[in-house]
Amino acid sequence: MRLILLGPPGCGKGTQAALLAEYLKIPTISTGEMFRAAVHHGTELGQRAAEFMNRGELVPDELTVGLLEERISQKDCAQGFLLDGFPRTLGQAEALKGMLQDMSIALDVVVDIALEDEVIIGRLCDRRVCADCGKTYHLVASPPKGEGVCDECGGKVIQRSDDRPDTVRNRLEVYRTQTEPLIGYYRRQGLLKDVDGHGGMDEVQSRIREVLVS
Ligand code: AP5
Ligand code: MG
Ligand code: ZN
Repeated sequence: MRLILLGPPGCGKGTQAALLAEYLKIPTISTGEMFRAAVHHGTELGQRAAEFMNRGELVPDELTVGLLEERISQKDCAQGFLLDGFPRTLGQAEALKGMLQDMSIALDVVVDIALEDEVIIGRLCDRRVCADCGKTYHLVASPPKGEGVCDECGGKVIQRSDDRPDTVRNRLEVYRTQTEPLIGYYRRQGLLKDVDGHGGMDEVQSRIREVLVS
């Protein structure tokens, strides 16, 4: 299966992608995670991306599209993949369409997770992530067992640099203007499924699994 998780920052794409990838046995591709890894390793791509990420803006398409194309061409994606955080502009969506056509494959479904801004801000301000393995926590909903220490790898659990309130507001604004139009784009293609992102993580996961078979 080849699917996209769409939705505003903080709606739970990463959380749901992890659960869904395990269930569907396909890899998750998160351009946000890939950029953060590049920043962490201090690569040239990371240095260029960090400039935009720290302001809550989108990394330009010319850097993002190539990164994605290289990733979906890898062997482990042959049976399917789940895209988390890509595409985010109409240009990226059109580029993806071209890539898939060239590979003679098609998208199966686009799941849009909807959540209101107030809830998003609460989720992002209390989000923490492992600096080493990227595992995501929430101070209230899913804290690490030991304070500041990752359950999985013992790494340091920190706040993402773009989860400060000002940057979060800018990310929401950028989402509204540049990414939200993709909802209509995929709806017109008959690929879109709407999912309510409120409620617990398992509840949202059940809703997603339901729309995948409907
Ligand atoms: P990216 O990493 O994709 O960030 P984002 O879209 O802003 O989304 P988030 O990761 O913030 O939220 P999420 O939806 O994954 O929510 P999560 O599951 O963590 O991108 C970062 C940056 O990279 C961008 O701003 C941009 O600069 C750049 N970039 C990336 N892709 C790009 C592209 N294609 N083009 C251009 N630039 C790109 O959940 C949030 C919190 O809520 C967590 O703490 C979680 O534990 C908690 N939570 C989740 N679900 C629930 C629930 N049901 N109940 C309670 N708490 C919950
Ligand atoms: Mg994420
Ligand atoms: Zn970790």
